[in-house]
Amino acid sequence: MEKVKALVLAGGRGTRLRPLTHTSAKQLVPIANKPVLYYGLEAIRDAGITSVGIITGDTGAEVRQAVGDGSRFGLDVTYISQDAPLGLAHCVLIAREFLADDPFVMYLGDNFLVGGISDLVGAFRRGGYDAQILLTKVAEPQFYGVAELGPAGEIVALQEKPVDPRSDLAIVGVYSFSPAIHEAVRAIRPSARGELEITDAIQWLIERGRSVQSHMVSGYWKDTGRLQDLLECNRMVLEAVEPANRGTVDGLSEITGRVVIEPGAVVENSVLRGPVVVGADAKIQSSYVGPFTSIGPRCVIQDAEVEYSIVLDDSSIHGISRLAHSLIGRNVEVSRADGTPNTYGLMVGDHSRIQVRA
Ligand code: DAU
Repeated sequence: MEKVKALVLAGGRGTRLRPLTHTSAKQLVPIANKPVLYYGLEAIRDAGITSVGIITGDTGAEVRQAVGDGSRFGLDVTYISQDAPLGLAHCVLIAREFLADDPFVMYLGDNFLVGGISDLVGAFRRGGYDAQILLTKVAEPQFYGVAELGPAGEIVALQEKPVDPRSDLAIVGVYSFSPAIHEAVRAIRPSARGELEITDAIQWLIERGRSVQSHMVSGYWKDTGRLQDLLECNRMVLEAVEPANRGTVDGLSEITGRVVIEPGAVVENSVLRGPVVVGADAKIQSSYVGPFTSIGPRCVIQDAEVEYSIVLDDSSIHGISRLAHSLIGRNVEVSRADGTPNTYGLMVGDHSRIQVRA
């Protein structure tokens, strides 16, 4: 069989993670201080694929800077820029030249899949299918592509974000395709949301009797496009980190559980209860950092308590108790408004979300 390539989708709008994604790519939001996109690229590499096309949109410069030519992942990366987020099938259309007539894996850059894709790529290579999709049970199928299966487990129909889902089986964002998909993406029309849906392209193949295979995902999968899923994903990855102290911890501090402290980070008079990662050159002083928290590089946490949260690079949290279930962007300052009782002083970007105790 020909060489399998990968097409990674890192464009699109990040409406559900605004305001972070006004300025930066949702695929670069960190999970345990590493961009979610990197996990996907590593899975692709581990499956023996080297030739990778990355679709980029408005945040293309940032994605290029983060991934470069791919050599650091052992990959050979070609960038394909998409003028507007016109849909997943549109990405296949514009990648036609890069993909040529090779089979390929399409990986949504904001999807997180534990267990890699080596088995899937192996099954696809052996099976000789025109398309292979992954399915998993979800609580709210209306937010995903949904598959209806027949009695023998065959796919009867696929629908994108149906109002009335016919099953609870969501389509996971890792697909394998033969070159037959090119005809399908050219044939379909935009959906109600104005996008060329890959779900419709696969449905087109099914209607023409092409071989479309589905597999249930046995491991953990999340679309990290929503806050709750992102925090859950962070929790999952942190649960498995190898504890390591590469920074400086003073004698007044107490570190328990899986805690990673990166070089240059300083922990003073604080309690860190893992799983926790503290990024390079961060400073934690007289604070409590609780389970499932990622503190980004160069953050300052002072006289504060934080848990089950992700704090991105260069942010500071002062005098706050207790911040939980939170995603804090880059260069953010969260502090106590001393001297002005019963007031909140906010300077918050568009589409932010703030929850305070009434
Ligand atoms: O996460 C799985 C779901 O992904 C599937 O269940 C759905 O069937 C599938 O349509 C897709 O739904 P989403 O609405 O979550 O897709 P989203 O718009 O978030 O785009 C997925 C990735 O592709 C994301 O990294 C952005 C990128 N993208 C998206 C579009 C629409 C592009 O690069 N270009 C685009 O035009």
